[in-house]
Amino acid sequence: MYVCLCNAISDKTVREAVRRYQPKSIQQLRHFVPVGKQCGKCIRAVREIMDEEMQHP
Ligand code: FES
Repeated sequence: MYVCLCNAISDKTVREAVRRYQPKSIQQLRHFVPVGKQCGKCIRAVREIMDEEMQHP
């Protein structure tokens, strides 16, 4: 499933990036996957995935 339609980034891609790079914030995550750089609508969903991964890695 795509979380970020603007950049065609899937939830799986976000999850893998969070696991691999352990970003502390969306800003850090953006160094690895370009989420939220256009319309910004995906930020909320991306944050939820990050929270989930940090709680249940
Ligand atoms: Fe992610 Fe638009 S859906 S920037």
